[in-house]
Amino acid sequence: MSAISYVNGVYIDHQDAMVNIEDRGYQFADGVYEVFAVIKKKIVDYDGHINRLYRSLNEISLKSPIVKDAYIFHIRNLIRKNNIKDGLIYLQISRGVAQRDFKFPKNTKPSIVITAKSISMDDYYSKFTKGIKVKITDDLRWKRVDIKTLNLLPPVLAKQKAVENGCDEAWMIDSEGYITEGSSSNAWILIKDKLITTPATNSILKGITRTSLINALKKKKIKFIEKRFNKKDIKIANEAFITSATQFVMPVVKVDNAKIGDGKVGKYANIFKDAYMEAIQLK
Ligand code: PDD
Repeated sequence: MSAISYVNGVYIDHQDAMVNIEDRGYQFADGVYEVFAVIKKKIVDYDGHINRLYRSLNEISLKSPIVKDAYIFHIRNLIRKNNIKDGLIYLQISRGVAQRDFKFPKNTKPSIVITAKSISMDDYYSKFTKGIKVKITDDLRWKRVDIKTLNLLPPVLAKQKAVENGCDEAWMIDSEGYITEGSSSNAWILIKDKLITTPATNSILKGITRTSLINALKKKKIKFIEKRFNKKDIKIANEAFITSATQFVMPVVKVDNAKIGDGKVGKYANIFKDAYMEAIQLK
């Protein structure tokens, strides 16, 4: 983690940054968050992420503690103060500090924390050439996962299960046998030349990377469909991918130990990744 973080109006050494034990983010996961990628010192798809943050706030009846224009100001300051070229910004807003009580507190100011860390694009590109392995796990989440809340225990457990099984990501499966999404990413498969991703309902988080890739595909006139898919579809898929702010477009080469296609990164992976990288908005 880089050295400087932003906590409730103050830039502070990361190791000295603290939140109150009565913070409702800590007590109830009563808050929302966003993760922004930074490439070449610029924020990737800033507008998409900030608009989704406001949607998440609105869905849980929480008011932004700062004006909308202040977000980019603080994020850019953290990029500069932490000397980040490529990296990730984590931004979290909770309902603030109040004595533990389930109902909303009155006159409590929401808490805001922003942290920044560097990532290596070389590491991303080298991971891309190998692809990742996925484990299928049950989707144990609540019914409003379209809101990017701090309530992350089910995906934490899913990811842990994936890791314990030698995998990098979990694809969560609903009670009807359909893949909803990854524990922290959206899921895609390619069957012949049909690119498929789960529709953006309340059962998935509508990824900003997902939207950017869709826009990129539309520009290139590459067809895709938003349709639910299950284990049988995965079996006949020739390629598979995940998308997220932290993984961009990342090929999947194995699901539950079964190879996707020939078990190597396929040719469309590069086409989709390049189309995405070309289409991202840097701010
Ligand atoms: N997670 N679905 C889930 C459940 C996610 O947690 C994420 C992102 C995505 C992809 O969304 P986006 O493309 O906007 O990053 C889909 C972030 C990266 C995280 O929690 O670390």
